[in-house]
Amino acid sequence: MADLHLSLDRDAGGITGQLAEELRTAIREGRLSPAARLPPSRELARDLGVSRGVVVEAYERLVAEGFLISRVGAGTRVAPAAAREPGPPPEPGRPRPYYGFRATTPDLAAFPRERWLAALKHALATMPGDAFDYADPGGVRELREELAAYLRRVRAADADPENVVIVGGVAHGLSLTIPALAVREAGGAAGGRARHDLDWFVRRSRGLDPPPAGRGVPLAVEDPASVRQVPLLRAAGARLVRVPVDGEGIDVGALAATGARAVLLTPAHQYPTGVVLSPGRRAELMAWAARTGGVVLEDDYDAELRFDRDPVGCLQGLAPGRVVLAGSVSKPLAPGLRLGWLVAPPDLAETVRLARGEGDLGSPVVEQYALAHLIRTGAYDRHLRRMRREYRRRRDALVAALADTLPEVEVHGVSAGLHLYLRLPGDWDERAFVAAAEAAGLAAEPVAPMRATPGPPALVLGFARLPAHQAPTQVSHLAATLTRRGLTRGESRS
Ligand SMILES: Cc1ncc(COP(=O)(O)O)c(C=O)c1O
Repeated sequence: MADLHLSLDRDAGGITGQLAEELRTAIREGRLSPAARLPPSRELARDLGVSRGVVVEAYERLVAEGFLISRVGAGTRVAPAAAREPGPPPEPGRPRPYYGFRATTPDLAAFPRERWLAALKHALATMPGDAFDYADPGGVRELREELAAYLRRVRAADADPENVVIVGGVAHGLSLTIPALAVREAGGAAGGRARHDLDWFVRRSRGLDPPPAGRGVPLAVEDPASVRQVPLLRAAGARLVRVPVDGEGIDVGALAATGARAVLLTPAHQYPTGVVLSPGRRAELMAWAARTGGVVLEDDYDAELRFDRDPVGCLQGLAPGRVVLAGSVSKPLAPGLRLGWLVAPPDLAETVRLARGEGDLGSPVVEQYALAHLIRTGAYDRHLRRMRREYRRRRDALVAALADTLPEVEVHGVSAGLHLYLRLPGDWDERAFVAAAEAAGLAAEPVAPMRATPGPPALVLGFARLPAHQAPTQVSHLAATLTRRGLTRGESRS
């Protein structure tokens, strides 16, 4: 039975007409979907405090107009053909946002539904009644404790519940951290916090105050880097300076030359190139931060998925006063959960927490308890162990199939994560290759849009959702498509 939100102005008169119009609007807007059952007239009349005759007449009008159908014994329903009004046509030339699978999306079919359900049930059964109130905007204590212990154990982080802030993923965490850095620069961090700075922060972190052109927090970002992060960083108030990445990760000499005092990087598994920040560069980076008072934003997006050996500890554990670690469950579990964390120096953690308290009142609570339970019971670790084994098989199979069938393509990067970085021969076309990969059922993304300075053709190819036994077939399809479309020298492979 549809639950309706109908507002009537009893002083205005014409109550039947008002009710009919409210129902029409609800159907047009899709709030009442085709075939939805309406409440019996007696019930709705009681809910609305009107006479039953008013509801009966309004229903009859809409039946006559074709919005509703009424059958004896079957009640009154929305007519199947009563569809919502079509939305405005897309603006010509404006690309439609695409929210579907990405090359780096995990295998969603492997989401541990039973375990998550058990964790949700446990949360709902054991959460104290008060926990359903607005929670600590920095995240519920139980999850911050579990995460702090987990990140100390798995990432060698220097985490305690006080410097962990729960956010809606790495993207959200970065959107909050950039304005927090600006507040810090302006001298208005949590302790003696300047009221106007926090107000500005709240507006900025909600995208209400775009930075004036040419201003903003200077932030060094890897080149290449995730194409999706660039607009969000700018919207959060960063002025980006790009720093090249080579086989050892970010070029710290080039970083120092930019003069920026904050840098965002992916040290555990550079996105997209797949290299790991070398020990020498880690030391240089930490020395840079100590020398300049610089801040390192460590995007730890897929660090737990290292297949060849144990992941190197995070940078945050080396210099907790200078590094903000950002992580999430997006790769280990699923991006749709929108659950992540920041481990930050106390003043930044506190600024973010205060701002969330003023801006959006924090993240959903039940899921936070559920994640805490999943980690506490070891189910999170078990899932990760299983997925690591499976992803390793899938990666190995795809790499082997590429070597067999498309030997011109070079696979770069360590055995980790959910994607391969492929270097193409210089005369191959990235976009054509991506289109052929997609036609063969593989998830791929071109690297050119991720670069600030042009580089050799390359792409990111996902393996998370490709079962190992299918890799040879899919890569053969890819090779055949490339040859058919004349995109490669097919004969060179024979
Ligand atoms: C480089 C990089 N950082 C972070 C993320 C994860 O973002 P989130 O935790 O907001 O889902 C991704 C996801 O694709 C990514 O590619």
